[in-house]
Amino acid sequence: MKKNKNLKVSIVMGSQSDSKTMKLAGYILKKMGIKYEMKIISAHRTPKRMYDFAISASKNKIGVIIAGAGGSAHLPGMISALTTIPVLGVPIETKKLKGLDSLLSIAQMPKGVPVGTLAIGEDGAINAALLAASIIANTDLNVKKRLNSWRLSQTKSVKKNPK
Ligand code: RP5
Repeated sequence: MKKNKNLKVSIVMGSQSDSKTMKLAGYILKKMGIKYEMKIISAHRTPKRMYDFAISASKNKIGVIIAGAGGSAHLPGMISALTTIPVLGVPIETKKLKGLDSLLSIAQMPKGVPVGTLAIGEDGAINAALLAASIIANTDLNVKKRLNSWRLSQTKSVKKNPK
């Protein structure tokens, strides 16, 4: 296994209003002992910030990008267009369409520029972090051990018989 323990995860989101959901990804990464940063980057409101972030992500030792966005959620796809670092998209739940708009915007990327799409909302944010941990675990044995023990305790927490 090639070792690279310096890779971090970048959690980006389109708005402050996404942070309640996206903080859950940070919580899981912390548990996995993975370094991470959180930033507000909007594809349409701060396009230069998005561009600068994406083109310097590799140089900044970012191993995985988790991007949360809602509505016409082009942030994950736009970032993926600018870098070959894996991008995991979290569709934020919206008031009008309950996040179906976000989900389809993120999942329906045309071939050639992929975004790994997770579930809408909190489940998606948590799973994005777990998936990021799986990717980082390929080159970091300590993360692999933490991920395996997290799975084991999840398994143990499921009772055999209902109350
Ligand atoms: C998107 O628009 C953001 O990702 C957010 O989910 C949505 C609404 O943003 P605010 O109007 O709350 O700033 O860009």
